[in-house]
Amino acid sequence: MSLQAIVLTLLSLSVSTIAAPARITARLSPGAATTNDNIQGWLDNIANVNGFLNTAAAGTLTGPALANSASLLLQDIPGAAADEPNRLMALSGLISPADTTAVSASEDLMTIFGGVLGNLTTIVDNSGDAAVISSAVDQINCLRCNFVLPDIDQVFAGAVANNAGATSATTVGPLVCPIPAAGSFVCPAT
Ligand SMILES: *[C@@H]1O[C@H](CO)[C@@H](O)[C@H](O)[C@H]1NC(C)=O
Repeated sequence: MSLQAIVLTLLSLSVSTIAAPARITARLSPGAATTNDNIQGWLDNIANVNGFLNTAAAGTLTGPALANSASLLLQDIPGAAADEPNRLMALSGLISPADTTAVSASEDLMTIFGGVLGNLTTIVDNSGDAAVISSAVDQINCLRCNFVLPDIDQVFAGAVANNAGATSATTVGPLVCPIPAAGSFVCPAT
């Protein structure tokens, strides 16, 4: 092999070893897949909580049947309301500490999530009391429409912005607030 041939072979080897990974990292950051997985998992949880709230609003399920549906959401399994704090912890670790909007939304969620789980527990514990159930459903709608879902949108946006290649997503609300935002559901008087 001539010297020129050896140099050309070495050049083409180094170009091919460098080029492939460089193309991949440019499109997909290390956190992109985890971001997408947790956003999708959280959207699944939201869809199930929305289904519960829509069923309650429509009166399709009432009393013990509705309470049973609430108890499923309280199990710490994918798709449940009790899985939402897991998604929050995962995505909070993927936002930039400098992103004050996403960080404060994450902190707000950590303090208000308990209210959703608490009101679901109220429904489970009062399956025979239609007035208590109705009030707890209103409280959950109040929390989710006005605070929880808009905060989740900020956490999604923060994680997507900080992990190149992740797919942006927004929440949808239950039928009482299809587009969640502050003021999208009138909270019950306390
Ligand atoms: C129910 O939700 C309200 C907010 O709408 C909250 O103030 C209250 O503490 C929650 N109840 C429980 C038992 O967590």
